[in-house]
Amino acid sequence: MPSRDEISYFGAGPAPLPTPVIEQSAKALVNYEDTGLGLSEISHRSPTANKVLADAKAALAALYEIPTENEDGYEILFMQGGGTGEFSASVQACVGWWVEQRRRKAVAELGEGKDAEVVERVRKEIQQELKVDYLVTGSWSLKASQEASRLIGSKYVNVAIDARKSNSGKFGVIPGEDEWKLSDKKSSAMVYFCDNETVDGVEFPAFPESLKGRAGDDGVVVADMSSNFVSRKIDVRNYGIIFVSQALFALLLVGLLINEYQGGAQKNLGIAGITVIIVKKSLLALTPAPAFLQQLSDVLPSAIPPIVFDFATIAKNNSLYNTLPIFNLYVATLVLQSLVANFAEKKVSGQEELANRKAELIYEALDQYSDTYHVVPDKRVRSRMNICFRIKPKQDSGAEPGKWDDAREKEFLAGAEKQNLMGLKGHRSVGGMRASNYNAVSMASAEKLVAYMVQFARA
Ligand SMILES: Cc1ncc(COP(=O)(O)O)c(C=O)c1O
Repeated sequence: MPSRDEISYFGAGPAPLPTPVIEQSAKALVNYEDTGLGLSEISHRSPTANKVLADAKAALAALYEIPTENEDGYEILFMQGGGTGEFSASVQACVGWWVEQRRRKAVAELGEGKDAEVVERVRKEIQQELKVDYLVTGSWSLKASQEASRLIGSKYVNVAIDARKSNSGKFGVIPGEDEWKLSDKKSSAMVYFCDNETVDGVEFPAFPESLKGRAGDDGVVVADMSSNFVSRKIDVRNYGIIFVSQALFALLLVGLLINEYQGGAQKNLGIAGITVIIVKKSLLALTPAPAFLQQLSDVLPSAIPPIVFDFATIAKNNSLYNTLPIFNLYVATLVLQSLVANFAEKKVSGQEELANRKAELIYEALDQYSDTYHVVPDKRVRSRMNICFRIKPKQDSGAEPGKWDDAREKEFLAGAEKQNLMGLKGHRSVGGMRASNYNAVSMASAEKLVAYMVQFARA
């Protein structure tokens, strides 16, 4: 039986956790700081739980340089519901903010006490103008756009790009910004994109130029950073909402820590339950009264979020409107605190350098042995986090060009497992191989994978 040190894990799901964090978390589960009670037995409203929450926020703000103090800064929220919950919450929030801005403008122009006229005017504007823009570059942004259609109706959903249309029906490219059909800024309640598409291995190389400088009344920029959070430096001020799905948040943070531990003992994380949202405070102030939205339900169904997904409510209650899994947050907090201490001045840039070096190493090997391997996405948008590739038939096999060799792919996976290179199977919806190069994957593991790829290609 292999020891934990011997395993290199490239799965897209749970990730290894450093032993010191597991040990400290285990202790906290049994008897938190010698209180005689475990952390998950203590009220989420207790001072203890509040401290965990405050520590998590402070560490995240420090690591990512998030301005949280000023009125024009950001709120950091911890919720449940995962990335999928945020598909719904983000569109409902942005549409609500758009409607509220229109309501305020109507009141300013028509005068106080003209409630019926105000409703009528906003109703017309919704019907004639409202749009939510989606950049569909992979399976997750597709799901998000489908959720928007389900909630508010497809007539309001503008798919500004569907990358499949430029790539023979498959994801794998991001068409140039000049091809995006974004709605007029005044009509747009949001522009949504998934920064890294986990299933398809497509990542935005940088923040899109055409979305820079959007303040809030010109399409709130929403980014799903579930699978590349803290893997590169970002300017938080470019975004209205950033969200990170529950499992991957802890996973990416943990990865940072593991690299700092220089190959310390590892274990699967297995902890999900916290979704992180970073949201602009000035937008929260635009949250409309549900009673106003109710009057518009004939043209705008399902625009009122369930209370647990209402960002303003969660912010007002310091993420404790309802029960928050404090223990899960505690594990992430331990990791965050260590990161702040370990990375010091370099912050996320230190991790970015490492992530880039590992990804380059793996892609270089795939490109060098292009007779054997085919990298699925276009070179310009290759994900540094999820490296998706296929295996070609042997040249003398007589197989049809462009087809993948299922038997060889199985052979590749079986051979990899024999060398303790685990979790390399692609997502079930697309097949092939996926080497997830999250922060948890050490340079040594990346090098082992490359050595195996070379050996397989030469065989
Ligand atoms: C980029 C991305 N967005 C959203 C999700 C969905 O997250 P959840 O499973 O937490 O709903 C995932 C899940 O892996 C993801 O990778």
